[in-house]
This record gives sequence, structure tokens and C-alpha cells, in this order.
Amino acid sequence: MKNDFRQKLHLEPESGWLNDPNGLCFFRGEYHVYFQYSPDSAEGKGRKCWGHWCSPDMLRWRFTGTVLMPDIPEDRSGVYSGCGFVKDDTLYLFYTGNVKEEGDHDYITSGRGANVILVTTKDGHNMSPKKVLLRNSDYPDYCSCHVRDPKVWEEDGRYHMVLGARTLAAKGCVLYYVSDDLEHWQYDRSVFDSEGSYMWECPDEFTLGGRRFLSVSPQGIPHEKYMYQNVYSAGYFGIGSAGDPENYREWDKGFDFYAPQTFDAPDGRKILIGWEGIGDIPYSNPTTALGWQHCLTLPRELTVNGRGNICQTPIREFEKLRLDDTSVKDSNALSAQLPFEYVGRCEGDFTVELEDILKLEYHSGEFTLTFLSENTGGGRTVRYAEMPECSDIRIIADTASVEVYLNGGETVLSSRMYPADTQVKLTFKGTEGKCYRLGGIEVISDE
Ligand code: FRU
Repeated sequence: MKNDFRQKLHLEPESGWLNDPNGLCFFRGEYHVYFQYSPDSAEGKGRKCWGHWCSPDMLRWRFTGTVLMPDIPEDRSGVYSGCGFVKDDTLYLFYTGNVKEEGDHDYITSGRGANVILVTTKDGHNMSPKKVLLRNSDYPDYCSCHVRDPKVWEEDGRYHMVLGARTLAAKGCVLYYVSDDLEHWQYDRSVFDSEGSYMWECPDEFTLGGRRFLSVSPQGIPHEKYMYQNVYSAGYFGIGSAGDPENYREWDKGFDFYAPQTFDAPDGRKILIGWEGIGDIPYSNPTTALGWQHCLTLPRELTVNGRGNICQTPIREFEKLRLDDTSVKDSNALSAQLPFEYVGRCEGDFTVELEDILKLEYHSGEFTLTFLSENTGGGRTVRYAEMPECSDIRIIADTASVEVYLNGGETVLSSRMYPADTQVKLTFKGTEGKCYRLGGIEVISDE
């Protein structure tokens, strides 16, 4: 069947542009996913708003529309990214109000307002009036005017907020604030990048498996073969006993991953959702001409493995989407309908090929994801991941994207792809397992 690129498993807007996930939370019996939304343009132009989906089970979603838009002086150039924090029967949404002043500015050291703004909601959709909590004058003197993306949590009887920033010396930085009432925030301290970035966006700090982690989306780190392959990076540090970030690891080695955010499910799982896209890319997505662009990643449960690395696993709810399965033996070929899932074991080198679309290969300690044609890869070619061994692979292929989980999700690669047909031929070498035909998530819209 001809592929219309409408995805079956990934949240994406009907029309317009999506970037970061925002305000992720479980509130009043439902999961809430807000996102950076440009409803007027598939290229991300025009108003920058928050769109909103909610779901009882992360499989059946409802789009309730554009819930926050630029309508006060303090957010007139965009309702930028932020978070959700649940207290009793109220959801507190913190975001960055972006303001671009008229005049001759570089918008780095002058001309940009970055306001932390709070709205509250009792139903996730209808918002209270906006309240400005922090302005540029509340940030340390060494900050440029790039300060944004509040993430709030409660710990030790106080509220904590991190903000991503660029210093005047062009270094990535995270600012920490504390509060006793969620409205009055005091500056506490900062941590600075030592990896060579000029800006850290979308910080997130959390405890997992008894360890402390700081997730950031750094910009400006020079490309290397196995690290920082994309225009911007996204990864996490462990926080050492002295409180300093150490051992940066990237969340995802694919072409399309940025600005992830975590939240806690009511059963205690820590779940991550990222933008399965990235800004300022040197290639274009064919859906733009069709009226929409970009999607979110699948929700992924996070755990820590014996090496202290975070593993990502598609939430177990997705197993309910499995329809029939086919056993795969070494050197098998089969025909599959998108979306499908492959779960396999491997020992030593292996390859999985999707026709002339995509080749996934592990060879001599190196995993490669290679698009085999310009059209199906959307202008992308190859991404690398280094690992001394690879014991398992899980592939979730949607109609216009692929997520590859290796070694129990310790390494993940996510990329958009654009096969002309939804029926694809798969070949397997050096791996055995099961291939599942998948149903889809359900997305309805109030609009
Ligand atoms: C990350 C980001 C955030 C910002 C938002 C604007 O992709 O640049 O730092 O708040 O997107 O849409």
C-alpha cells in the first residue's frame, strides 16, 4: 500500500509543526502530553504555542487543541518549553515566555526576554491567568539572555527548578532555583558544561535506581564519529558525590532525537518522551509539503543497568499492540507490513535489512544505521554507535520512523524514514527472534 507517512504509533500533529514535549505528567487519572506547537505552519513559523494530548493508558489519545498561546507581553514571541507539576488537584505548568524586542540586537546578549511563567489548570485544558515568576533580572549576571525551559520537582520538603542557559562566555549552564510555594523562587546555584557546548536546553534532573542524573540538550559541541553526530546533542550526566555532572552519555544515536523530558507514572515508572526530530537540520522532512512536520518518540520506561547507564524500553503498554507474530531464523527473509516490531537475540555480527530502505548492521564493535536511498532516508545517510558486544535488538518500525533498541535499551537509535510503500521485505542475518505485526494507537481530536 502506498505510504501516506501518517504514523500509527507516534504522536504527531494533524497539521502544523511539533517540537519539544512539554508538561509531561499523570494528573487526575490521565496522562498529559503537551508539546511545542506551531499550528499555523508546518515549517515552524508563526505562533509558538502548546498543544495538548491526554490519555487514560498512553494508547488512546485525545487532542484537545492549542491550550497556551502567546497573548501577554511577557510571552509575545512564543510560549516556549516547560514542565508540569502536580500538587493535590491542581496541575502547575511552568514555561518560558520568549520576547524578542524590536531593534538592532543579536538576541543573545541583548534584545531577548526569557520569562518563567506559571499557569494552573484543574482539567489540563482550561488555564488560569498567566503569572510571571522570573525575568532576566532574576538570573545571574553571567547569563546571556538565553535562559529557558523550566523543570520543577519536589524534594526534601521544598520545590526545585532547573533552567537551561547560555552564559555570556558562551558556555552551556543549568541554573537551580528553590521555592517553598511554587511562586517565589530563589536562585541557588549553577553547574557549567565542560564538554564544549555554548548552550544547554531543556534540563531535567531526577533520581533513578538510587542514582542522580542531569539530562540536558547541549548545542555547539563539535561533531565526532561516535558522539555529537547531529547538529545538537541530547544526553545525561551522572551527578557525582561532589554534585558535579560527570560521564556524559547520549540518549539516542539516531538522526532524530532532541529535548527529551521525563515524568513519573502512578505505578512508579520513570518515563521519557523526546522530540523525534531536531532543529536547524540540513535536510528536510517530506511531510512538510503535506502540511505537518515532526513527531514525538514512543514513551520509554527508564531503568539503570549494572554499568550505571540508563536503559530505555518502549512502555510495556505497547506490547498490547502486537497482533500476529512470525518466528525469524538466521538468514530468513519475510514480508512485513508497517508498523512492525522485531525482537531478536544476536551473537556476534548481524544485519537486518529493510529492502532498499534501511540497513541495520553490527560489525566489529560498531553498530550502523544506514539509509539506502536518498528518498527513504529523507537526505540522511549513516549514524554510528560503538559497543563491545550486542546481545539483543528490538526494532519498532512505524510508517515513517524507526526506533532501534540495543542491549536492553542501553543504546537507542531513533530516526524518521520515508518508505514509498508500507509493505516491506525484511532480511535477517546473525539474529533470530520474532517479528510482530502491530496495530496502532488511537488518536481522536476535539478540533
Ligand atoms: C528546544 C527549544 C527550547 C525552547 C523551544 C522553543 O528545541 O529550542 O529550548 O524552549 O525549543 O520552541
